Amino acid sequence: MFGFKRSSVQLVVMLAWLLRYYTFGSIVLWSIFACGLSLAVVLAITTYDHDYWTSRGVFSPPAWPVVGHILSVVMFKEQGGMCFKRIYDTYKDKRFLGCHQFYQRTLVVRDPELIRRVCVNDFQHFTDRGFFFNKDVDPLAGSVLFLRGNEWKRLRAKISPIFSPNKLRGMFPLIENTAEEFVTRVKDLLSQSNKVTTKNGTVKPVDQPNGVGNESSVVDSEKLVGATQSDKVATKNGTIKPAEQSNGLGIVSSVVDSEKLVGGYTADAIVPCAFGLKSNVMYNEDDPFAVALHAFYEMSLFNIFEKTMRQFWPAFVLFFRMRIIPKKTHDFFYNIVTSVLRAREEGVQEKRGDFIDMVMALRNDETNNNCKKDQEDVEITDMVISANAFIIFLGGFETTSSTLAFLFLELAANQEVQEKLRSEIREVLARHDGRISYELLQELGYMEMVIQETLRLYPPFPSIQRMCTKDYVIPDTNTVVERGTIVLFPTLGIQRDEQYFENASAFIPERWSEGSPQPPPGVYMPFGDGPRYCIGKRFALIQMKCCLVRLLQHIRITPAPRLRPGANMAPAPGPRLEPFIADPRSPLTLHPADSLVTLSLL
Ligand code: HEM
Repeated sequence: MFGFKRSSVQLVVMLAWLLRYYTFGSIVLWSIFACGLSLAVVLAITTYDHDYWTSRGVFSPPAWPVVGHILSVVMFKEQGGMCFKRIYDTYKDKRFLGCHQFYQRTLVVRDPELIRRVCVNDFQHFTDRGFFFNKDVDPLAGSVLFLRGNEWKRLRAKISPIFSPNKLRGMFPLIENTAEEFVTRVKDLLSQSNKVTTKNGTVKPVDQPNGVGNESSVVDSEKLVGATQSDKVATKNGTIKPAEQSNGLGIVSSVVDSEKLVGGYTADAIVPCAFGLKSNVMYNEDDPFAVALHAFYEMSLFNIFEKTMRQFWPAFVLFFRMRIIPKKTHDFFYNIVTSVLRAREEGVQEKRGDFIDMVMALRNDETNNNCKKDQEDVEITDMVISANAFIIFLGGFETTSSTLAFLFLELAANQEVQEKLRSEIREVLARHDGRISYELLQELGYMEMVIQETLRLYPPFPSIQRMCTKDYVIPDTNTVVERGTIVLFPTLGIQRDEQYFENASAFIPERWSEGSPQPPPGVYMPFGDGPRYCIGKRFALIQMKCCLVRLLQHIRITPAPRLRPGANMAPAPGPRLEPFIADPRSPLTLHPADSLVTLSLL
């Protein structure tokens, strides 16, 4: 906002001049002078770096003292990615521009070609992500997500094969079982009311033979749109309260918080793959994994403050030795992993083809082959295994649940897309005798397009960043990006830019169909790009597809009634002109501000 440095100096000189010639001895003007001087000193300190970019010939929008360009994020008025989208949209003529996130110099890159160069061609200048942690305080943060330089490179090379198609095929039954349980869970919840309103308006028990409104009732799909909507909402863990209202069509349905509900599925699907254990987050909000997740994601003021500072002012976090992972969460995951490791080493627990088995095999290989380690190699200790199992768990939980939640909102708002998706599922299932397999998922072309379009409008990481690790001259310019600078790609802004996507705010899966023009490289990157792109991409796709295949065979998703002021969902059917709103309280990742939808049994 202010170009403070020069104006503060001017203010001080002017006051001194006034004092010298007119007011010697005036207590009033002395006080004004003292205030002005203090203000100038404070402003000079809090904006000391704000001319960094302009002094290097890089355009920088006006910034606020202390917080720089992210005042709206710090005040929880805007989600972090939305803030950079706004900056992206405002300065359309710039290839890149300089920003400050607190005192972190940040180069925002608007040009997809340059993004591609940073991520892929010139990766050796940008090997780190720029997330800071202190290994002593936070040993569980020592995973591929946070590690830097050669340490990251070695570990990534070691664990990448775990996510190969072959290994994922082995994990597939674990995910598929959970998807099946999820649908049973949803059906149970929908039937829990034990009563539904029948077509003629009378109330009958669900399991009553010939009850029009029972689970197997066939209802005209057109009449279903916006049909039965309970005025009750989801409970704390996203479970469903009984539907008690009906328009008389005899549909068992209820309003649910889709992000919380589906979060149970994504957590329960990843636990057996990462830890070789069975969790029950779907059913039980006191499940130990649910409690540990709750501790990690708790939206206490301190947590929000700590997360914001960690992201935007890492030096502050390092100085005060703040933990990324709360102690409770750390102890829980470390204990779980070490107990599974010991049980398998002693042969008390059989091998299950999960992450733990694979890293154990890796560790044994290294020990047996007596692999010589240099200083920068990462030894596969219990802590390294725990850290990576933990990050796989978090990655597999949060990103996929928020994507599915946005996807449910879009399916509710776009009934024709939902119907097309359901038809494809039925068709492909029929070709495979009703059996879901890894191969079947690869044949779901339309589903792939729907997921792609969801990730275009709602990338869970709405901005992606790298840290410059070696000075870098931006091609075709004289601008040097200095070591230590964060380089940020405003993915959300680019993916919703009319320049690259016609009718960019609308949800149109067909834009991804074969033969349609595809965006240039560096434009669409919900999973990142280059050597540091998302290691769990294939896993995430399987997890989401399994859920959709199982669910949409039995359940219809329709809009929830507008229950809260400012709610996301417009109750009236019709095309949406704007994407669903993101929750401003989560600075790093994108979540719907309101994820209520109505689920009904088909
Ligand atoms: C919809 C689902 C997901 C999305 C959109 C997503 C997106 C991303 C993005 C954007 C990055 C940063 C990439 C970059 O900097 O270029 C990333 C990194 C990562 N993701 Fe995912 N992710 C998803 C699911 C998963 C899952 C299921 C797992 C684990 C099974 C996972 C594990 C990781 C890890 C470990 C990294 C760090 C990779 C590294 O630095 O080497 N992600 N993800």
